[in-house]
Amino acid sequence: MYSTTFLDLPALAQAQGTVSLPGSKSISNRVLLLAALSQGTTVVHDLLDSDDTRVMLQALQQLGCAVEPAAIVPGQPVRITGLSGRLPAGASARLFMGNAGTAMRPLTAALSVLGGDFQLSGVPRMHERPIGDLVDALRQLGCRIDYLGNPGFPPLHIQPPDFSALQDQPIQVRGDVSSQFLTSLLMALPLLAATRDIRIEVVGELISKPYIHITLELLARFGIAVHNEDWQRFTIPAGSHYRSPGEIHVEADASSASYFIALGAIAADSAEGVRILGVGQDSIQGDIRFIEAARAMGAEVEGGPNWLRIRRGAWPLKAISLDCNHIPDAAMTLATMALYADGTTTLSNIASWRVKETDRIAAMTLELRKLGAVVEEGADYIRITPPATGADWHAASIHTYDDHRVAMCFSLAAFNPAGLPVRIEDPKCVAKTFPDYFEALFSVCATAREHIPVICIDGPTASGKGTIAAEVAQALGYHLLDSGALYRLTGLAASRAGMELDEAHSAQIAALARELPVRFDAEQRIWLGNEDVTLALRSEESGMNASRVSALPAVREALMDLQLSFQQLPGLVADGRDMGTVIFPHAPLKVYLSASAACRAERRHKQLISKGIAANIDALRADLEARDARDMNRSVAPLKPAQDSLLLDSSALSIEEVAAQVLAWWQERRPFGRG
Ligand code: DC
Repeated sequence: MYSTTFLDLPALAQAQGTVSLPGSKSISNRVLLLAALSQGTTVVHDLLDSDDTRVMLQALQQLGCAVEPAAIVPGQPVRITGLSGRLPAGASARLFMGNAGTAMRPLTAALSVLGGDFQLSGVPRMHERPIGDLVDALRQLGCRIDYLGNPGFPPLHIQPPDFSALQDQPIQVRGDVSSQFLTSLLMALPLLAATRDIRIEVVGELISKPYIHITLELLARFGIAVHNEDWQRFTIPAGSHYRSPGEIHVEADASSASYFIALGAIAADSAEGVRILGVGQDSIQGDIRFIEAARAMGAEVEGGPNWLRIRRGAWPLKAISLDCNHIPDAAMTLATMALYADGTTTLSNIASWRVKETDRIAAMTLELRKLGAVVEEGADYIRITPPATGADWHAASIHTYDDHRVAMCFSLAAFNPAGLPVRIEDPKCVAKTFPDYFEALFSVCATAREHIPVICIDGPTASGKGTIAAEVAQALGYHLLDSGALYRLTGLAASRAGMELDEAHSAQIAALARELPVRFDAEQRIWLGNEDVTLALRSEESGMNASRVSALPAVREALMDLQLSFQQLPGLVADGRDMGTVIFPHAPLKVYLSASAACRAERRHKQLISKGIAANIDALRADLEARDARDMNRSVAPLKPAQDSLLLDSSALSIEEVAAQVLAWWQERRPFGRG
């Protein structure tokens, strides 16, 4: 996840490859409960690993379901052996539901029908979330549920039901507070339908029908065919009983898929296209109908039960006029696709946009205009005409209003024909539904090397370049290349292999350097094969060995490709003495960091003392001056500032001040203004 204040997306050119999307939360927890109520074992693939699903799994285990493995392991299915619709006589448990509404409501219904003595509680916020309408509905049947705290709210005490007075009249439930109440009844009442029809009647307008649709579809896969009369009356026919489908895939979130469907339509011009794993054309989620809209704009979409492949069809895209009432969330993605259309696109019947995370009509209007589009907004529509020519596009800093969907759909503007970068403010807002959205996007996007920015930070030993490079990379969300570490690694690997570190062995050492099994992890640790060598690389001996191997031209040549390979989306900060001169000569910002020998000696002294290593400041200074002289005068890659680098003497500055200066220089080079 990017938690920087902004994320600059370089101009992107092409998309190709496969993305696996995270499983849908609402489908995950429904499937778990249905599997638990069924007869037989269900193998559940692609279960979402989240707080809500963990709560549900834990509760099911407490109730006696065999769950294997006991916790969710990425990439592994979960096997659940169901209860065959019965609990052992005298079953009892205290279940903690955290803040998982998708576990609390359905379990309340299922347990009060199954029978037993149960207490269900949650975090304080859960005890403020209403459940009274569901309890009222269940009491009509003869279920015994008591409030342990405030009436109408959890925690609850459930006791064995008394169904002796159960009549044939319909169970009534309110539909206008939360569709979860109806979902909970629909999943619990098949347990009572062995010998009689069970009828449920919705009181008031039913909200969130697409969610009830998901419930009905999943019930069907577990053997329960509910008769739906106009979303007002539902009948579970006599003789219904739960049967495991054997295997089931939890679909990925269809709204999240819309960004990658759009990506394929805009930028997948190869045969491979963009493949989405986790959701298919026959998805039970309402937003899957986004595919129809994308096709109307020109996308070529094919798919199977659990995958989609999208390729660019018509180009430019075709402008459309569409009533978007059936896909309110995914329709936002159409608004950015409209930037690439051959005319004016109108999205209508979207009044609900105004009452979402933000006023989405206003937000989209403002931000699309920043990019150069001509936009008209109405109470319940938006009309978008793309920038007339490449020259009419502007580099924009997109405000995201703490709205995940604004951030995700504007990432598509990075394909603009003007080759301009796009700045997304507060990129972490995507965490609401898709924390790794930008990582997934970058993994299937390509662009010309020159579009991926590199900031070079060079300078003499102990100038603080490593620290500053890391700070700057962190602030921008860029990758980091510590090139010195590569020479240190080569020195370490060569000396371990028993090689002399001299010119006579340079071909051997270079061969080793070319094959270095190096890995930098997210915690800034450095691995050589399976060994964590972070500390070993910091030793004085490592430094000496690095200094020797780095003087060998064949070794420098051998490390060239490895260093270039760090230039990846969204950008790179490269630290080392020849970054701006040899490896990335076209980098748009090069900084040459210096500090007086006295100052550097003092910094290194402090550093050593803090590690408990005794040191003499005068000796350190003499050492540094000698190293400077050697580095500047050596014939191979001598230490010298690139001609176009900006000099920064950090002697009198703190780390924060130096980093702020580098970032300010970077900002001046960006097309977004002072932001
Ligand atoms: O920055 P450092 O102390 O980790 O560098 C280790 C050695 O590698 C040092 O002697 C300089 C050399 N080096 C180099 O020649 N070229 C680079 N790009 C980086 C480091």
